[in-house]
Amino acid sequence: MTSAQDNLKRQVGEAAVEYIDNHLANDSIVGVGTGSTANFFIDALAKIKHKFDGAVASSNASANRLKGHGIRVFDLNAVKDMTFYVDGADEADASKQLLKGGGGALTREKIVASVATRFVCIIDDSKLVNLLGQFPVPIEVIPMARSAVAREIVKQGGQPVLREGFFTDNGNIILDVHGLTIKPENARSLEARLNNITGVVTNGIFALRPADVLLISSTTGVTCRE
Ligand code: A5P
Repeated sequence: MTSAQDNLKRQVGEAAVEYIDNHLANDSIVGVGTGSTANFFIDALAKIKHKFDGAVASSNASANRLKGHGIRVFDLNAVKDMTFYVDGADEADASKQLLKGGGGALTREKIVASVATRFVCIIDDSKLVNLLGQFPVPIEVIPMARSAVAREIVKQGGQPVLREGFFTDNGNIILDVHGLTIKPENARSLEARLNNITGVVTNGIFALRPADVLLISSTTGVTCRE
């Protein structure tokens, strides 16, 4: 059965395709995120696949879904320019800073987003928050550094919880960190500080490179914040 939230995710995925459609040239490459909202975007993107060259995926799961629709998937190393990166989020604040990584694809998401000119973030209105951090901050960690990184995070006031039995597409583990205060004005410094712990690959705060556009679906339709 389709839930009401799935309908909102589908709606915003379709709105993102409409949003980027006008700007796609035949030689365009679209950056594609990961997660259930991104999946609706991929399904809608398939309808205009004749209008662009292909996609770069932020996870193996998204790459497989794109290929399943007959959309060509490029290695990021083969791509220089990308106008759009489209992805969901676990939380977004008013300044378009995001918390991501619920699906564990945060590192590749951050890499693909860093190459794109415009990051279009697609969410339903349950993801819009005043303060980031109700959702724990996912941190991708090199496995041998798990305990050392966890101890350092505790020193910094967080409570890390190992995502049991989960490995990222890069072969690393995820620590989900609870209890961090992420005020809009300190999100960038916290993102940098967490990334600076030896053994951390990256964390799920997207503040140094926030979204450029937020598309938000609700029961009354989709709104766009640029
Ligand atoms: C994947 O690692 C995440 O960053 C997702 O973008 C985020 O968890 C949102 O996922 P849903 O669209 O499934 O809620």
